[in-house]
Amino acid sequence: MKVGEEIMSIHISNDERLFHIETKNSSYVFRVLENQQLQHLYYGKRIHVKENYGNLASYQTRGFEVAYTATEEQIQLSMIQNEYASYGKGDFRHPAYQVQDATGSRITELKYQGYTLSTGKKRLEILPSTFDDEGDRSEVLTITLKDDLIGLVVKLNYTVFPDQNVIVRNVEFINEGPSDLKLLKAMSLQLDLSDDEFDFIHFSGAWLRERQLYRTALRPGLQSIDSLRYSSSPQNNPFFMLSRKNTTEESGEVYGFNLVYSGNFQNSIEVDHFSTTRVLVGMNPVEFEYLLEPKKSFITPEAIMSYSAQGMNALSQQLAIFYREHLVNPRFAKRPRPIVLNSWETMYFNLTTDKVLELARCGQRLGVELFVLDDGWFGHREGDNSSLGDWTTDYRRLPKGISYIADEIHKMGMQFGLWFEPEMISIDSELYCTHPEWMISTPHRKPSVGRHQYVLDFTNQEVIDYLFEAISSIIQETKLEYIKWDYNRHITDAFTATLLPTKQMEFGHRYILGVYQLLERLTKAYPEVLFESCSSGGGRFDLGMMYYAPQAWTSDDTDPIERLKIQHGTSYGYSLSMMSAHVSASPNEQSGRRTSLDTRAAVAYFGVFGYELDVTALEAVEAEKVKEQIHFYKKYREVFQYGNFYRIRSPFEDDVVDWQVVSSDKSTSILLHTSLISHLNPGYSLVKFCGLDEDKRYTIAGMDEEFFGDELMNAGIKIIPEGAENGPVISTPEYQSHLLIVEEIKD
Ligand code: GLA
Repeated sequence: MKVGEEIMSIHISNDERLFHIETKNSSYVFRVLENQQLQHLYYGKRIHVKENYGNLASYQTRGFEVAYTATEEQIQLSMIQNEYASYGKGDFRHPAYQVQDATGSRITELKYQGYTLSTGKKRLEILPSTFDDEGDRSEVLTITLKDDLIGLVVKLNYTVFPDQNVIVRNVEFINEGPSDLKLLKAMSLQLDLSDDEFDFIHFSGAWLRERQLYRTALRPGLQSIDSLRYSSSPQNNPFFMLSRKNTTEESGEVYGFNLVYSGNFQNSIEVDHFSTTRVLVGMNPVEFEYLLEPKKSFITPEAIMSYSAQGMNALSQQLAIFYREHLVNPRFAKRPRPIVLNSWETMYFNLTTDKVLELARCGQRLGVELFVLDDGWFGHREGDNSSLGDWTTDYRRLPKGISYIADEIHKMGMQFGLWFEPEMISIDSELYCTHPEWMISTPHRKPSVGRHQYVLDFTNQEVIDYLFEAISSIIQETKLEYIKWDYNRHITDAFTATLLPTKQMEFGHRYILGVYQLLERLTKAYPEVLFESCSSGGGRFDLGMMYYAPQAWTSDDTDPIERLKIQHGTSYGYSLSMMSAHVSASPNEQSGRRTSLDTRAAVAYFGVFGYELDVTALEAVEAEKVKEQIHFYKKYREVFQYGNFYRIRSPFEDDVVDWQVVSSDKSTSILLHTSLISHLNPGYSLVKFCGLDEDKRYTIAGMDEEFFGDELMNAGIKIIPEGAENGPVISTPEYQSHLLIVEEIKD
């Protein structure tokens, strides 16, 4: 076997017809078939590299299936695990791509042409992407396929990041023919697995209840998660997993998939009549077409796949490291994220300079590091029905201007952040008066409206340039350190005057490319500004946004008990440093539920911590507690944001939730134990730790005993209900939380 030069993760057989991509624990194998098409052989736990895998490569024919041609009767594409399938030549499953030629035909035959190898994954130019800036931690295999009749060239890119068991895929379509081609479907990843003994685990929901976990066995036919909201959406997150039926957090096989994209997507799983499974991940083909003129090319977003044989915690942990190393802006990827005080749930639109500064001052005294002035500071925005697009101070309500507020906050020693919703326009705005044509609408039809607002046409370069200037001046004027980038309605009435009628179906993709362009320009021009994305909470919680904005507001639902599910679900595919989590008022504004300040903070610690609370109205004991919470989080911030996270007990299965973070050197760990219901005459509650060093000796804060790591992990700890020291406890209240702080004893 030949191998790639430096990292040696890509093995190519001597006859150059078999490719074996290896990560630390997984193997991905495919080969060139006799008819020059590609056959997928295997993806799973690592296997030895061989010259060929005769048995895996074998295939059969069946009655009532169709042979490729009369001279290739042994090849029935429906009987083969394909690598990147077409439609119309005997594979009747959903295809990975579809191209229409100038005659109107959709039949294509991609034949193998050759391969190239390189090291050091480069960033994509117009799309967010994974990267390997050091150049020595990834290897790229590109397979070139061609349909000679129409001159369509397709390049399949495979980037292997061996250390995190990740393979990144994407596809480039190039028109080398003389006539226009039309791309009707262009998925980023196809994976044909040879059986269907899997559970499909995905994260679906809605506003205020994002990323709830659903786990169902695969069944024959098509099942999918997708979005047609021109946004990745709170309805279905693009991240999903396929696991074996007995896979748990701690053991068993699991595959994770995600797409580095924020627009419409379609991730599907199809089980066919021979119980094989086809996975497709990519842009949604509904509302998509792309005109590929001669010599032009189209590049798909990247899809990520990762494999673990050690259960879902291990999968999430390797993904968290992968994002940190190869997806998130390196400037912030490992930086301690500041503790935020956000004005929204305290003030909504009722802002005055004095109120804002009083809140900030109070936050500063408690230890807050970043004050964020949310919605309401610009145009004449007294409610949600005006001013979007007018990104200048509302001097009537903030007469000294936003720069005065920023200066005062900086003088207090805090960072300053502002809320923007750059993609939107209100009819009641100066922007609409001057540029009504910048609003997305379809000629001669009344546009649909959401939250009294409309969306700007991000396919129009003038719109992007205007916003770059407007946001730039505010950043410069205020020396801004943080931007909350919100997006509070989905697109309707899709149409743009910037595109010819034949290209209107490119609108959705071009819209999101426009958003990426603006984010790219702003993050390049102002590299020290930390971006947090938001979409009515966690409605655009995806890897495309994470490339620019390393953290996102996880949900508008700040009720800690609801948040247990939302953060638990989110944690499968995203790291804690990506999830903003704030302490808010009790009773909770959204649910009305009452919870203690301890429980509210305990849940919010497991993320990027902050407050969305009127800290000016706290009683003295509460203020003291908030101060302690902030002090505590600062002390353990590194472990919460960048440690390994373990889901031990799940709110989707249990009435108790246990979460744990462990520092990478296993010297510090914090475990959260929360009860969802009240228990009368309770028994012991036993928790078993994960991820510690068996031989290290540890203390637990408040307990007068030394523990070995293996004792904590195998025998566990009995959680003593509050008040037990004073005699028998007859009930433990609902929503009570305990934090166990574990530290290594260093002699
Ligand atoms: C959205 C966000 C909130 C807040 C409001 C402001 O709903 O999710 O956090 O910023 O907008 O209008």
